[in-house]
Amino acid sequence: MKLLEGYISRAHVHGLYLIFLPTMRRRMRLLWSLALACAFSVLIYVSYLLGERYHNKPFQTIVAHSHASINHIAFPVVVICNKNRLNWSRLPEIKQQYNITADKQKLFEKILTAYDGLSFHQFNVFDSLRGEDLESMNVYNFTEIASEMAWRCNEILADCIWQSRSRDCCKLFRPRRLPFGLCLAFNELEQRKPTMATGINTGLLLRLLLRKEDHAPESLFPKGFLLTILEASVWFSFPIDIVPHFRTNVAVSAVYHYFDETTLSLPSSLRRCVMDYEIDSEHFQTLEGQKYMLENCQAECQQRYLLRYCNCTVDLFYPPSNYTACRATDLPCLAAHNHLLQNFEQPEEHPYVHRDHSGLLCECLHNCKSLTLVTDMRKSVQSPWIPSNSTQNMGMWLNVYFKKPSMLVYKTNLLYTWVDLIVSFGGICQLCLGVQNIKRWLIYD
Ligand SMILES: *[C@@H]1O[C@H](CO)[C@@H](O)[C@H](O)[C@H]1NC(C)=O
Ligand SMILES: *[C@@H]1O[C@H](CO)[C@@H](O)[C@H](O)[C@H]1NC(C)=O
Ligand SMILES: *[C@@H]1O[C@H](CO)[C@@H](O)[C@H](O)[C@H]1NC(C)=O
Ligand SMILES: *[C@@H]1O[C@H](CO)[C@@H](O)[C@H](O)[C@H]1NC(C)=O
Ligand SMILES: *[C@@H]1O[C@H](CO)[C@@H](O)[C@H](O)[C@H]1NC(C)=O
Ligand SMILES: *[C@@H]1O[C@H](CO)[C@@H](O)[C@H](O)[C@H]1NC(C)=O
Repeated sequence: MKLLEGYISRAHVHGLYLIFLPTMRRRMRLLWSLALACAFSVLIYVSYLLGERYHNKPFQTIVAHSHASINHIAFPVVVICNKNRLNWSRLPEIKQQYNITADKQKLFEKILTAYDGLSFHQFNVFDSLRGEDLESMNVYNFTEIASEMAWRCNEILADCIWQSRSRDCCKLFRPRRLPFGLCLAFNELEQRKPTMATGINTGLLLRLLLRKEDHAPESLFPKGFLLTILEASVWFSFPIDIVPHFRTNVAVSAVYHYFDETTLSLPSSLRRCVMDYEIDSEHFQTLEGQKYMLENCQAECQQRYLLRYCNCTVDLFYPPSNYTACRATDLPCLAAHNHLLQNFEQPEEHPYVHRDHSGLLCECLHNCKSLTLVTDMRKSVQSPWIPSNSTQNMGMWLNVYFKKPSMLVYKTNLLYTWVDLIVSFGGICQLCLGVQNIKRWLIYD
């Protein structure tokens, strides 16, 4: 009681001090008590609001840098696939190598024709194999055969120019698996340059050769190329269609988005993004041996759906893993489930999106440091001085370049950290009770 009295008489928590002032009149004392009660209720209410705000952990995303230099990021990986994935002229060599006898020949070619246009969304190429006796084909490793028949760098690429210098295409491009089969990839090893020119005719310039004369005769897909622009550690992205007889300019601009350190202490489900090292997170699933990336998570999800439906995965599409690879007898099963493998589906989208069949339901979150490459494609008619019937052999020019020397950087952070909580609490106490006087009492007494 003595301590309390000592505190009250000197601390100047205004109301309290005045209430216990012996000279105070009764009516005034009542008034001050009322004022004090009001101040306390306001304090409690506002403290509750502050606590709630802190508890909700609101995020805010701001533009951290409106003109960050593009040199902070590497030139994207450029993957080029001929829509006809195989050089059919290699078939005789392959048949000889694998001892294909005349009775097996027809079925063998049928399977390879399917492989010629195979991609993840087109397992219907295997429709023609239903009802065939595929048992005898199980001995062949079609992943290996398709890889051997795939286009080599010098067969469909020519006149490569990288950063204004003429280069050997085979030194720039390497075979690369992705969910369209085996294609050719540029810059897998991230050739980073201190300064990079930007604008049209910079970056990568090369000629694509269609080679119609070496295509599978039975393959009826439209001719052309698929171009995929990727960040280095990303396994796949949706391709851009390139039709023949044009020059195609692909301008790439970048947007970088990251979550700052204050957010990393929160669980990934609250943050809605996953860091590379959060292996224990419920959302962490990625391709074997690859970093966590949204796209790698989706690719792993594709594989798991293949395993669920057909007990095997198409190893031609993914990095080597322990999953069982599909053999010839599994191919009709892939065809039968093609309609279920068309789209990625978001959880809870059902009321808004009409679907006949369910899609791939992958609970994949963004990676917390994500680069978005935005492509802007312009096609132009080939120069008039090239006669139109020679364009076939001339091929088409492709130019991939950074559009501008800067990029936008977004940052997401916590709007309200514990430091802000303490500061706000201090402020509200001061406002309601004049508590700064506690300090005075502590120091001077
Ligand atoms: C193909 O047959 C030849 C002999 O007919 C044999 O030497 C060779 O090992 C066989 N190759 C394969 C891949 O079976
Ligand atoms: C088929 O060939 C691929 C590529 O050479 C290889 O990675 C895979 O292990 C082979 N599969 C089987 C079942 O031998
Ligand atoms: C396709 O393969 C055959 C056989 O290896 C080869 O002679 C031909 O040059 C290749 N086609 C092209 C367009 O390079
Ligand atoms: C997958 O394997 C399981 C068990 O091994 C089997 O019951 C099921 O029928 C298989 N599914 C297919 C499509 O082969
Ligand atoms: C794959 O198999 C190898 C050898 O059987 C094993 O050491 C490895 O842990 C397996 N990896 C995964 C991801 O299961
Ligand atoms: C273009 O094609 C026409 C008819 O097919 C032929 O007469 C002409 O010589 C060709 N021109 C060139 C430059 O090849």
